[in-house]
Amino acid sequence: MEIKSNKLPQMVLPPSIPYDGLSHVAFYADDMHAATKQTEEELGMPLMCLMDIPGGGQHSFHDAGNGAFMSFMWFPKEKRADKPDRSFSHIAYLIPDAYFEKVREDLEQKGLLNYAIYHGLEAPMQVDADHPDVWIRSLYLKKTMGMTLEIASVKTALDPRKHIFTDPRNADGEKVPYKSIFVKDLG
Ligand SMILES: [Fe+2]
Repeated sequence: MEIKSNKLPQMVLPPSIPYDGLSHVAFYADDMHAATKQTEEELGMPLMCLMDIPGGGQHSFHDAGNGAFMSFMWFPKEKRADKPDRSFSHIAYLIPDAYFEKVREDLEQKGLLNYAIYHGLEAPMQVDADHPDVWIRSLYLKKTMGMTLEIASVKTALDPRKHIFTDPRNADGEKVPYKSIFVKDLG
């Protein structure tokens, strides 16, 4: 079999986890406003979603093309001290949503699953996996080769006209009024 691209034919992939590319790469940002502005204005990745999360933090997603996101997490200064190694910075791979339960079982059997979170848009953590507010379902793996890895499936496409819920906080924790430079082009 001749391999002509960096995507192998489906038939040779192991069937247990049907990877469908990258979902997101997530980093800590001490200054969410600066990170948001630079990622939009200099890297050219539109802000698709920005939300406040429990515990006083914020979470953002920028469109990096082909269904992938650049994501930032922000926490208040006192909570940053709990996370000195920034160990929750992570890479998330995408799977088709129909395979979510199958992959969860597979990871459980292998002893790799740490926990699952059903991320809502109105409520950041939903209890019901099938709640209509859930936009991405995430399986977080136990530390694997020293890394935090996530396998996620998406149920709802992000729309910056609806899903930029808040203004980004600066390093001192103040919300800075922010308007995505891309939203105006969407009408
Ligand atoms: Fe994530």
